[in-house]
Amino acid sequence: MKVRFGVMGYGFMGHVHVEKLMKRNDCEVIAVCDTNQEKMADVPDGIETYSSMDEMLEKADINTVLISVPNHIHLEAVEKSARKGKNILCEKPVALTLDELDKMEEIIKETGVKFSVHQQRRWDWDYRTAKEVYDSKTLGNVYTIQSKLYGFNGNMHDWHVYPEFGGGMLFDWGVHLIDQMLFMVDSKITSVYADVRNVINEKVDDYFKIILSFENGVTGEIELGTYFLADKEKWFERHWMIGGDKGTMYSDGFAPEGKIVRTTRLLTNVPGKTTMTASGPTRSFGPPADGLIITEPLPKVVTDQSYYYDNFNKAVNGEEDFVVTIPQVRRVLKLMEAARESARTHKSVDFE
Ligand SMILES: NC(=O)c1ccc[n+]([C@@H]2O[C@H](COP(=O)([O-])OP(=O)(O)OC[C@H]3O[C@@H](n4cnc5c(N)ncnc54)[C@H](O)[C@@H]3O)[C@@H](O)[C@H]2O)c1
Repeated sequence: MKVRFGVMGYGFMGHVHVEKLMKRNDCEVIAVCDTNQEKMADVPDGIETYSSMDEMLEKADINTVLISVPNHIHLEAVEKSARKGKNILCEKPVALTLDELDKMEEIIKETGVKFSVHQQRRWDWDYRTAKEVYDSKTLGNVYTIQSKLYGFNGNMHDWHVYPEFGGGMLFDWGVHLIDQMLFMVDSKITSVYADVRNVINEKVDDYFKIILSFENGVTGEIELGTYFLADKEKWFERHWMIGGDKGTMYSDGFAPEGKIVRTTRLLTNVPGKTTMTASGPTRSFGPPADGLIITEPLPKVVTDQSYYYDNFNKAVNGEEDFVVTIPQVRRVLKLMEAARESARTHKSVDFE
């Protein structure tokens, strides 16, 4: 069966989806709907337009709905689409609360429609590179994974600055960064500690640091801020650092540049060279003896966010399982709720 999409919400992400889906031959975009007519001024020829989701669900010959309306309307969109028997590709965050997700899951089970969430950043180049290094065990026993994203202009916009629409950076990039970490480290999380702040935005978070203690000994640290002022051309920074007992991976950028620095044995009790610093001599922080450090390039990884659609379209037809499942997005949502609780109480929160 060819997937025949109706796209709900033709704003930023609606445009991105339609442009990408139109280039594929395993699906078609039949219709879009948006309550704001102006947004649909540039809908490509041949695609039907509707001014409400009800009208599109009633009239368009579609078997699948792609939900790209603001976050607070996801539940309504899922409910209406499922009741009309449409399969659903829902944008992240799937829901604003676990209660909302419970309701969605009930309706999905009752109606038997297929459902997945657009966590396409599982196929990002920087992330897949870090994941490949982690999976390869080349760093020995990994104890820390740092995933960081910084913006330097405070640029949050539109409904994202209002909590009632599901605004804030935790619901925005936070969902992706947490999902990536959980998809990388296959272990239970024992506790969560978080600092979540509204630095310049009155009502929504624009900074967070989340520390996850995994049962397998890894500590995952996720940090995002949209307002670290800087005077440079580049307006964001994306970093990964993975530390193991036999090596360290450094990666900068969405097109990752970096290296792996490793050894073939544990460097315990190795005499270093005394180094003079402005604060006096140091041995612990001087260079190691020669010949112990091996520097390697990052692995070459082939990936593309469109792999998400490959899986979705096949899974709708029962040819594969969905890579992004309801239990996974539930875990991310639960973790965000724990992070908010930790930030409120300034205490770590027991998790799984
Ligand atoms: N996966 C990703 O990387 C990614 C990136 C950006 C946004 N998103 C998600 O996509 C969704 C949309 O975000 P956006 O940035 O495109 O927002 P947007 O404001 O640019 O677009 C939303 C559109 O929905 C329309 N709309 C509002 N209420 C509607 C309704 N009841 N029926 C039909 N249309 C309606 C608006 O008029 C607007 O055109 C959000 O859930 C967001 O979190 C995901």
